[in-house]
Amino acid sequence: MLIDVVVLAAGQGSRMRSNLPKVLHQIGGRPMLAHVINAAEVLQPHKQHIVVGHGAEKVREYFRNSDHNWVQQSEQLGTGHAVAQALPHLNTESIVLILYGDVPLVSTASLQQLLEQVNGEQMGLLTVNLDDPTGYGRIIREKNGTVSAIVEHKDASESQRQISEANTGIMAVMASKLQQWLPQLSSDNAQGEYYLTDIVAMAHAEGIRVIPQLAEAEWQVQGVNDRIQLANLERKFQGLSAEALMREGATIIDPARIDIRGQVKVGKDVTIDVNTVFIGDVKLADGVNIGPNCIIEDSSIAANTTVKASSVIEKASIGSNCDIGPFARLRPGTDLKDQVKIGNFVETKKSIVKEGSKVNHLSYIGDCQIGQNSNIGAGTITCNYDGANKHVTQIGDHVFVGSNTSLVAPIDIANNATIGAGSTVTVNVGDQQLAVARGRQKNIDNWVRPKKK
Ligand code: UD1
Ligand code: CA
Repeated sequence: MLIDVVVLAAGQGSRMRSNLPKVLHQIGGRPMLAHVINAAEVLQPHKQHIVVGHGAEKVREYFRNSDHNWVQQSEQLGTGHAVAQALPHLNTESIVLILYGDVPLVSTASLQQLLEQVNGEQMGLLTVNLDDPTGYGRIIREKNGTVSAIVEHKDASESQRQISEANTGIMAVMASKLQQWLPQLSSDNAQGEYYLTDIVAMAHAEGIRVIPQLAEAEWQVQGVNDRIQLANLERKFQGLSAEALMREGATIIDPARIDIRGQVKVGKDVTIDVNTVFIGDVKLADGVNIGPNCIIEDSSIAANTTVKASSVIEKASIGSNCDIGPFARLRPGTDLKDQVKIGNFVETKKSIVKEGSKVNHLSYIGDCQIGQNSNIGAGTITCNYDGANKHVTQIGDHVFVGSNTSLVAPIDIANNATIGAGSTVTVNVGDQQLAVARGRQKNIDNWVRPKKK
């Protein structure tokens, strides 16, 4: 079965009140149009033809690395006119699936079902029963139930407006039929537009059966016209994402307070507390515990590691049984091996910390390698930047760095070295050595404090 997908995405979306084309507004961190394209891509179509108009440049720019066929609709003269712009690009033998860039959560399964309805004698139409179908095209049936037409709300009679079965706009039909019907559309209607929906009456007149298929759920066929509808679908999408994680074995303390903007893979017995945001590709192995208010982006966390409240983790790899946060900031290139502790107000960047080492409080560790079982005291700073270039700090195994130490890179602290608190270390420290680099303490007797005048 040869499939050509046509996605309508030329509309302005004026109710979004935005400089961004409507279909680039995001759900779950991806443009609505990307959701639609991905749902259709699973069907392995021959080609996806995306009809663009308003903001076409920005839309094409976003998808510049894909091989979709971009079809320009310079004037938005209606849905029928939009599909007609794609006609020259369709295979005559294809089944054409018509989708909308602003109906983002349509499921591949229902599209698959719809396609199965289509052959030389029939076409498929996705419909939905709505409590309030105001604004939608209504499905008109004959007494025997056969679908004979779609009437747009603005063109409908009072009695037709009582019909609750509405057109979702999504349909599947032979390309050869579109090639025959679309040139016959007229704009003689309430909106002066070329309605795609008029092909339903044409099909009926020709004895082509229109098979209505009820949508699995209303949200799957909901369109986005304003930011309120966008937010509603965002929450729906997040709820579904949370449910998927729970099915994999994660405990989510409140599924209404999680945001997944990418792919999260979880092992068993993962716990995720409230208000955590996941971005990009995140892997959480068995037993990982994420505290509240964390942001985790493109990172992997191995088994039984705990990330405490309000930690921000970006492009980091974290071993098993680590203890991170609260208020830790792990920046790109952070590579923590197993049983590492990174405490509050510690920032790490492009650094390897090996098994069992601890950086517990108020430190900056950048361009640094720390060996095993070393202890970095509170307020230790790797001075990695000389104002022009970045330099590396090497710290060995079993090193003890006293609090409030500045390590001026490039610098090498060998295994078993000890650094006295408050040191500014500028010279390499050897194995087993103690380095103390600070002013000697002076105690002055009978000191008289200044008095207020
Ligand atoms: C359309 C259907 C209606 C259905 C409703 C479901 C028609 C005539 N009506 O109405 O039966 O119930 O969708 O939401 O098809 N677009 C273009 N180019 C155009 C016109 C529209 O790309 O020239 C795109 C829009 O960007 C939008 C979609 O097609 O994404 C639907 O267009 P819109 O004008 O919103 O159609 P409705 O009046 O909602
Ligand atoms: Ca609409």
